[in-house]
Amino acid sequence: MTTADGLHVGIIMDGNGRWAQRRGRPRLAGHRAGADAVRRAVEAAGELGVTTLSLYAFSCDNWKRPSLEVNALMELLRDYLDGEARRCAEKGVRVNLIGRRDRIPQGVIDAAQRAEELTRGCERLHLRLAVDYSSRWAIEEAARRAVTGPPLDEARFALLINEVMHSSPAAPDVDLLVRTSGERRLSDFLLWESAYAELHFTEVLWPDFAREDLERALDDFRGRERRFGGLLEAGVSR
Ligand code: FPP
Repeated sequence: MTTADGLHVGIIMDGNGRWAQRRGRPRLAGHRAGADAVRRAVEAAGELGVTTLSLYAFSCDNWKRPSLEVNALMELLRDYLDGEARRCAEKGVRVNLIGRRDRIPQGVIDAAQRAEELTRGCERLHLRLAVDYSSRWAIEEAARRAVTGPPLDEARFALLINEVMHSSPAAPDVDLLVRTSGERRLSDFLLWESAYAELHFTEVLWPDFAREDLERALDDFRGRERRFGGLLEAGVSR
């Protein structure tokens, strides 16, 4: 079995719409199947020893989608948070909504706060659901806050980014960033945190993403040589 102790894995979950389209079904059916894939991925990540899992569920740019789709996504998120919180608590998964909190429906915020409260003591896996998330916005907002307070260095700036995005606890840098559905873009996800992330792209559409796909991504990651800009013979560190 592949294990991934201590890794931060980010996933850009893409392809829900195409999955539905290929079956002649409405886009919402793809998002519903996508929510099931989230349940599977969280379970697999915990079992494979991933310690931080950041899932891109709704970007700041996704507000441009039709309101019917936006509302359905918000409802799915709320249902996920309410429906999975207890199970997450039992499995040692600490749930955390990351992103802006000033524009999403109060029902989603309330469900997130309930899930965060219930799972606060969990230490096996830190699950970060990115909703109304933009990495550029986080960096901008952190820069605004950095103007006051103690002298700025990389560590403090990283903490500020975690703080503005409501990441609790603060997450380490991303080790492995996965994107599904054959697209090869970062789409404003975890740009600062992914400075040295290994990238893994798969053709699999998100609703079809299974434990084996996560294992494949982790195997791919293990085969990479990480030098963080240094030389292997000099000893690798970050
Ligand atoms: C991108 O696929 C996916 C999204 C914008 C939404 C992701 C949402 C989920 C996986 C389900 C709800 C999440 C949780 C955490 C319960 P797309 O719709 O852009 O696909 P397309 O490119 O094929 O159209």
